[in-house]
Amino acid sequence: MSRIAFLTMDSLDDFVSYDALVADCLQARGVKVDNVSWRSRTVKWDDFEMVIIRSPWDYQQAADEFMKVLEAIDASTAVLWNPIDVVRWNVRKTYLQELHDRGITIVPTQFVQSPTELQIRGMFEVFESDQIVIKPAVGANADDTYWLRPESSPSEIQQIELLYSGRLALLQPFIPSVIEYGETSLVFFDGEYSHSVLKTPRAGDFRVQEEHGSRIQPIEPDPDLIEFSRRALAPIPQRILYGRVDLVELPNGQPAVMELELIEPSLYLSSDADSAARFADAIQRFRA
Ligand SMILES: Nc1ncnc2c1ncn2[C@@H]1O[C@H](COP(=O)(O)OP(=O)(O)O)[C@@H](O)[C@H]1O
Ligand SMILES: [Mg+2]
Repeated sequence: MSRIAFLTMDSLDDFVSYDALVADCLQARGVKVDNVSWRSRTVKWDDFEMVIIRSPWDYQQAADEFMKVLEAIDASTAVLWNPIDVVRWNVRKTYLQELHDRGITIVPTQFVQSPTELQIRGMFEVFESDQIVIKPAVGANADDTYWLRPESSPSEIQQIELLYSGRLALLQPFIPSVIEYGETSLVFFDGEYSHSVLKTPRAGDFRVQEEHGSRIQPIEPDPDLIEFSRRALAPIPQRILYGRVDLVELPNGQPAVMELELIEPSLYLSSDADSAARFADAIQRFRA
């Protein structure tokens, strides 16, 4: 029986993962799937034909170490998906600048290394907005992400200055549709559109992750949004097994890329009855 590894973390206790659905599909087709923590010291990557990055959702705490693990997988006989170059490109949100330069609308973003309290406060003027967001260039799960207003206390902003010392920060205007409507995630397998969900934060929060209590519902997006997402993925030269495009609506009504999730996105396989089979089909094609 051929073996595929799903790269995960030591414990998924506090997380919601749907990958068992695709693992079951593959097992039914005679492909054995092992869940392997990226922190495993005993695994032999050569034992697998393919390693699919699925749920290593603590990697941002040790991004360099995680990249070393991916390099080891890449150097083994196992094939890594998505490819390591795609991961390297996607791990830093500076790729958003590249999308912007190619004419793809993104959430307006300023990149600031080690932002000071003054620079952070200056963003209210830069974006002509009374609400801003600061988040790390390397991050996931809304870690270290803050929603600030002019009345945010000096001590809060000073703490953020400390937290971001030596780090690259993204500063953006707060996009109200995130709380009024939500963020739309469009999932693609092997370049083909599969399905979408709308993620709406719980009252009082602005983070759309399920782990922060948001509501996830399947939606049928407008064909324009699917086309826009295709264009957002087009700059990636490599063939990719999976990709998720997270979109929000700007105050002017235009869709904008919040992020491209090409490393370890949740794929919301429970939201569309056929999506696990479509993912399994794509994996089968990549094995050939
Ligand atoms: N500019 C923004 N306006 C409103 N909400 C935001 C903004 N930036 C981030 N958020 C909220 O924080 C979450 C995390 O930000 P995101 O850029 O998706 O990073 P990651 O998912 O990698 O942590 C988003 O899904 C959204 O809920
Ligand atoms: Mg996100």
